[in-house]
Amino acid sequence: MPVANAHEAEELHAGLLARHAWISPKFLYDALGSRLFEAICELPEYYPTRTEASIFEHHGAEIARAAGSDATLVDLGAGNCAKAASLFPLLQPAQYVAVDISAEFLCVALASLRQRFPDIAMEGLGMDFSTRFELPPLVRAERRLFFYPGSSIGNFTPDEAHGFLRRLRAQCGRDGGLLIGIDLAKDKAVLDAAYDDALGVTAAFDLNILRHVNELLDADFDIRQWRHHGFYNPELGRVEMHLEARSAQHVRWRGGERRFEAGEHIHTENSYKYQQADAIDLLERSGFEATHLWTDPQRWFAVIHAQAV
Ligand code: AVI
Repeated sequence: MPVANAHEAEELHAGLLARHAWISPKFLYDALGSRLFEAICELPEYYPTRTEASIFEHHGAEIARAAGSDATLVDLGAGNCAKAASLFPLLQPAQYVAVDISAEFLCVALASLRQRFPDIAMEGLGMDFSTRFELPPLVRAERRLFFYPGSSIGNFTPDEAHGFLRRLRAQCGRDGGLLIGIDLAKDKAVLDAAYDDALGVTAAFDLNILRHVNELLDADFDIRQWRHHGFYNPELGRVEMHLEARSAQHVRWRGGERRFEAGEHIHTENSYKYQQADAIDLLERSGFEATHLWTDPQRWFAVIHAQAV
């Protein structure tokens, strides 16, 4: 059973004891959480994945022209590498670098991709790129194109997103760029449904964080005593996920304990939704020029190509 390292244990402990308790969203993604996220992407209510895919489908040739061929394609949070691989025929990268926390997962995906695309050099890097980021020398320095789809940028606060994009910019060189998917602000009812679906898959994804914490910290969260909430907060421009205690309870974990009153929340995730102009401004403040933006007919999601300046 996986156990938290000292840094994770400290972070979890601090969040669980905070006045407004929180758990970092990175703990949503254990093996089961990653599967549940894949299931979320299939849900009718969860529009981002299919809307982004439809933008790539409709504008693929133009996106490839903007991004240019022979790039060093650096796929951030590559997972099973499927999104980037679907663009290989259009983008024709010289080197593909898949980056993800789980190196194991990458090895399997890259082995089959190498057979399908023998002309593309491929590397897998197991690293947490969210807080620190430096590419090793095996990554070509020329024409680096960072690929950051799925609106994962939305899971950072705008300040964290700015810091992250500046770190990317520093690794870009003169001729580098970024191809990024960003979810746009929209009707509250659409967002509420996307993060609190009828089948309860997002609820299971959120509740699974407690199961994961039970494993990591030897905690005794009773998952049945918690309820998922996912809703758009228009004042803060973000979807929030919270777990609410259904009853008063005492929770113990290695090194700590806490009483939660009925109705008390644990905040588990934010997902920021950008106005188009704010997304462009964020990129420009981070050292990029947004050269092209593609969106869907409802303007729900944007794919942006930005050049390092
Ligand atoms: C991974 N990330 C972009 C997803 C999102 O929409 O913020 C995670 C997610 N949380 C609930 N549903 C999906």
